[in-house]
Amino acid sequence: MAVKIQSVRGMKDLLPGEIELWQQVEQEIRDVSALYGYREIRLPLLERTELFKRSIGEATDIVEKEMYTFFDNNDESMTLRPEATASCVRAGVEHSLFHNARARLWYMGPMFRYERPQKGRYRQFHQYGIEAFGWSGPDIDAEIIDVGHTLWKRLKIDRFAKLEINSLGTPDSRASYRQQLVSYFEAHHGELDEDSKRRLKTNPLRILDSKNTEMQEVVQSAPVLMDYLSDESRDHFDRLLGHLRDLGIDYEVNNRLVRGLDYYSGTVFEWVTDQLGAQNAICAGGRYDGLVELLGGREVPGAGFAMGLERLVEVVRLGDFQPESAAADVYLCMLGDEAQKMGHSIAQTLRESNVATILHCGGGKLARQLRNADRLNTAIAIIVGQSEWEAGNAVIKNLRADELQKVVRVSEIVVTVKQMLEARN
Ligand code: HAM
Repeated sequence: MAVKIQSVRGMKDLLPGEIELWQQVEQEIRDVSALYGYREIRLPLLERTELFKRSIGEATDIVEKEMYTFFDNNDESMTLRPEATASCVRAGVEHSLFHNARARLWYMGPMFRYERPQKGRYRQFHQYGIEAFGWSGPDIDAEIIDVGHTLWKRLKIDRFAKLEINSLGTPDSRASYRQQLVSYFEAHHGELDEDSKRRLKTNPLRILDSKNTEMQEVVQSAPVLMDYLSDESRDHFDRLLGHLRDLGIDYEVNNRLVRGLDYYSGTVFEWVTDQLGAQNAICAGGRYDGLVELLGGREVPGAGFAMGLERLVEVVRLGDFQPESAAADVYLCMLGDEAQKMGHSIAQTLRESNVATILHCGGGKLARQLRNADRLNTAIAIIVGQSEWEAGNAVIKNLRADELQKVVRVSEIVVTVKQMLEARN
């Protein structure tokens, strides 16, 4: 036998059996997006490397060490997208979506990051994201957070999701805060781990995000960004918190929340859960008012979020969301050469009436065919053997209830099946 080829580390197959819940979660996502007036945008998986370097930032973990980058046959540096906000902005600028217009957009699909795989962290993962362009006030920030909250309620996981929120202020106030922070950490240099010493030079705000328990004390006593906010940023943040209270959304202000991508300004937030272990963020986002300009567009404010679907589906599995059965309605067993010839046309008639039908293929004994029907969780079996075929009849068997089987005319199959399915609902 030839040597088996394994999937790539950190990249999962989604198999029948688990995909059904994904599909239902994705359907809720589409419904909620439409409820809020967001429109889908589909973006390429591959972009020029420069796009991510410029937007996410050269000194971030993503750009420094997590991107799948290669040179194509034309010697251009290409990158599999690690996130889609940058692509969304690129597409908006390229197609003038923001020109004298505002846009509410959403996207869903795979992202790629070369991270160390562990529970809830993959190298290919999926995100659903929304981005709103053209609004600078706290009302749109509140709306974006509310989209997530509505989704949690529809998926019955609101009790598992906690909102943490912070403001990074304007680039000016962040710069003066950054100076204070650098002085503070330099004075405590001996208490920093190697990673933080490196970050002190490249991205000192990220030290606040450190998970190293030995550094918690020095991090906890560091200056707080909120104290450096301009009056305008402070007012924006306070009004946002007011909107959240009006919407009945609980939040916790987390002054250490800085996010790992450089494009943020002002509001940042994360929805975290205690159900997943270390990888506890199911959704994260915020404002990025300078990004459209940074990528060659006009000055257009923006805000959005992205959620990790692997993590979301995992939490949904723990909640009370009742997935609808994905099984077909009917399993059609045709026995004997003559009857088998009719199988396709009976199946066709049922499907034309929207009855999901699996036609048994490959022949074999009735007992085996019925075992298949049971294994696939179908509700009804229809059996046409030689004697039924000769008489123009079919046997209909309810596989989910203790009921006597019925014999009906072939022409009555659809009506009978429909009645049985309706009685079930
Ligand atoms: P992010 O925090 O890098 O933000 O990712 C958002 C979410 O994607 C995370 O909260 C997590 O649920 C999921 N995620 C990230 N990396 C992985 C991974 N390796 N495996 C599984 N799930 C993962 C962004 O991507 C921004 N573009 C969000 C945004 C949109 N901000 C404004 N608009």
